[in-house]
Amino acid sequence: MDSRPDLPKTLLDNLLTAVVLLDTNMVVHYVNPAAEQLLGVSARRLLGHSLEQLVEYLSLDLERLRACLKIGQGFTDNEVTLVVEGEAKLVEVSVMAVFENHEQLALMELRKIDQQKRISQEIQQHAQQLAARDLVRGLAHEIKNPLGGLRGAAQLLEKALPEESLKEYTGIIIAQADRLRNLVDRLLGPQRPGRHQVHNVHSVLEQVRRLVELELPPGIKIERDYDPSIPDFEMEPDQLQQAFLNIVRNAAEAMGDQGSIRLKTRTVFQITIHGKRYRLAAEIRIIDNGPGIPEAIRDTLFYPMVTGKEGGTGLGLSIAQNLIDQHKGRIECVSWPGHTEFCIYLPLRK
Ligand SMILES: Nc1ncnc2c1ncn2[C@@H]1O[C@H](COP(=O)(O)OP(=O)(O)OP(=O)(O)O)[C@@H](O)[C@H]1O
Ligand SMILES: [Mg+2]
Repeated sequence: MDSRPDLPKTLLDNLLTAVVLLDTNMVVHYVNPAAEQLLGVSARRLLGHSLEQLVEYLSLDLERLRACLKIGQGFTDNEVTLVVEGEAKLVEVSVMAVFENHEQLALMELRKIDQQKRISQEIQQHAQQLAARDLVRGLAHEIKNPLGGLRGAAQLLEKALPEESLKEYTGIIIAQADRLRNLVDRLLGPQRPGRHQVHNVHSVLEQVRRLVELELPPGIKIERDYDPSIPDFEMEPDQLQQAFLNIVRNAAEAMGDQGSIRLKTRTVFQITIHGKRYRLAAEIRIIDNGPGIPEAIRDTLFYPMVTGKEGGTGLGLSIAQNLIDQHKGRIECVSWPGHTEFCIYLPLRK
């Protein structure tokens, strides 16, 4: 082996696995061609630069990485989001601590999370969300009936009360019962099955835009990038409007008084949604340049009652997902600081 000191590098250059060598300052010392390809950036632009400067976002815990390096330990993170030049990639990262030329280095292996695994994760996630939703709905339904009785009894009591001043108390019971009823109604979602009709998705989006613009501070702009070739299709326009509205409102609420929201539509061919294959689908993207979804709620974003806001009910996205589900569609989200993107796929043809 000693006679071939260049051998390890040649081997690394021919590996299909992406390999990156970093020092403790996260400066790149080596990348193999597979890593150049995965990152979509040439070795020339990577070498000698810090990884933190090169990627726009990396969900890998760099503090942990540094701590592991210090004690010569390795670790694996099997779901890392990496954003390079505006493109998000999902990768599995294994880090090994190596000691070379008196220097502590991190040998990083990156593997793209393959499509099959993603789909099966997605199906599993969707099943969990459905289970959570059914649980909340069941509970809401059970609350609704006694609540009606409670309110009715308070009304009767109010009429029978001898003193006007006591009516303040029955008033409180009735007002609080109404408040709870509103919440329960939102938890239960739309009751009547929607009437489907052939409609245009852009006219739904335009309605959402007009509604939101009425309440928007002047510093927030809504941009449109529509693909006019999307054909009209069967939908329940009010339900879709509600779903889009919930998402656009969130974007507006997250941004404060400056920023932009982009509504973008495209057609996609040959797409699998919840395990079913479709020939044609409409893709609707709602993109904002706000602060991003708080990390703590990213994994459970679509669950009912998950909120990152003071006083939020956390129902907007759960309801949106429910409505998209009723259209046999799929909703997903990618987010990092400065960029949040909700993507909705609605199948048009089997
Ligand atoms: N575009 C976005 N940018 C940043 N954070 C977002 C964005 N969209 C959603 N979120 C986060 O996701 C959380 C959940 O959103 P969701 O609409 O389900 O509930 P909510 O807005 O908190 O309450 P509700 O919609 O029921 O009034 C929000 O509280 C917010 O923290
Ligand atoms: Mg909301």
